[in-house]
Amino acid sequence: MVAETYLRTSQLIHPLFIQEGNKIKKEISSMPDFFRLSPDLVLKDIEDCLQLGIRNFILFPQIEDKLKDKSASLSYKKNNLYLKMIQAIKKNFPEVTVITDVAMDPYSSDGHDGLVQNGKILNDETLPILGKMALAQAEAGADILGPSDMMDGRVAYIRGILDKNNFTDVAIMSYTAKYASSFYCPFRDALGSAPKAGDKKTYQMDPRNTKEALLEAELDFSEGADYLMVKPALCYLDIIQSLKQNFPIPIVAYNVSGEYAMIKAAARQGWLDETKSMVESLLSIKRAGADIIITYFAKDFAKLKLN
Ligand code: PBG
Repeated sequence: MVAETYLRTSQLIHPLFIQEGNKIKKEISSMPDFFRLSPDLVLKDIEDCLQLGIRNFILFPQIEDKLKDKSASLSYKKNNLYLKMIQAIKKNFPEVTVITDVAMDPYSSDGHDGLVQNGKILNDETLPILGKMALAQAEAGADILGPSDMMDGRVAYIRGILDKNNFTDVAIMSYTAKYASSFYCPFRDALGSAPKAGDKKTYQMDPRNTKEALLEAELDFSEGADYLMVKPALCYLDIIQSLKQNFPIPIVAYNVSGEYAMIKAAARQGWLDETKSMVESLLSIKRAGADIIITYFAKDFAKLKLN
C-alpha cells in the first residue's frame, strides 16, 4: 500500500546478441545463462519474450574478424546480418519495438566506436559513417535508433539524415551519459568488440563527472533525442536522478553486462540470493528515476510475474 516504486515488464528492454549461422545458441562465459544466437533462434527468443510480456528489444551483432575494416563498411552494406535480422523481426512480429545500436565497434578492425587515425578517434569524420549506418537501419525497419558511439554532434547529424529521407517517425534513443566503464567487459567478450589499442576515455565519460552528464544531456536533447540514456546504471544512480529531474523526456538506464555478471557470479558461489539481488537492483534503478531499463535480467524479472 505504501510502496512508491513499481517496475513493470513493459518498461524493460531485452538485449539480443546475434551471430551468423543456424540453430546456434552460445553461452557467453562471462554472462552465465545469457546467449549469443543465430537468427532462427533470435526469432524463437522473441516469441518466448512476447509470451512473458516483453516487447522491446535492442540488437547487437557479433561480426567475424575477417569482415571488419577500419571504416566499419559492413555496417551499412545492404543485407548484412544485422539489417536482415531487423527485417525478419519486423516481418514476423510487427508489434515489437526494435531498437538498434549505432556505433562502429562491432564492425571496426580497431574495435573503436569511431574512426581511428594515428591512434586518435576522429569525431567529425565518424559522423558520415554513423549516418549511413543509421539510414540503413531505418530502411530495414528499425523503430528506434540507439547511437552508443558518444561522438559529438551525432544526434543532430542522424536526425537530419532520417528527416531528409522521410523517416520522421524513427526515434532516437541516445546514449547520453555513457561512462568509460570497466563494467562493459563481458559485453566485449560476447561480441569480440574490445578496442585493439588504447581505451575509450577520449569519447566516453569520466566517472568523476556529473556536470558533464548534464551538458551531454542538454546537447542530445537540443539535437532532437527522444530518449536519454545513462550507462552503466548501478554506479550512476545519481546521474539517472539528475537527468530525470532536469529533462522532460523518458530516461533509460542500461543495466550493463558487468552488473549482470556480478550478481550471477556471486549467486553461483552461494554468496547472494540471485532473484532478490536482481529485483532489488532493478527497483533501485527505477527509484532513482529511470523510466525504462535495458537489462539482461528482463526474462528472469518477467517470469516472477510481480505485476
Ligand atoms: C559499444 C557498446 C558497449 C556496450 C553497448 N554498446 C560497450 C563499449 O562501449 O565498449 C556495453 C553494454 C554492456 O556492457 O552490457 N558501442
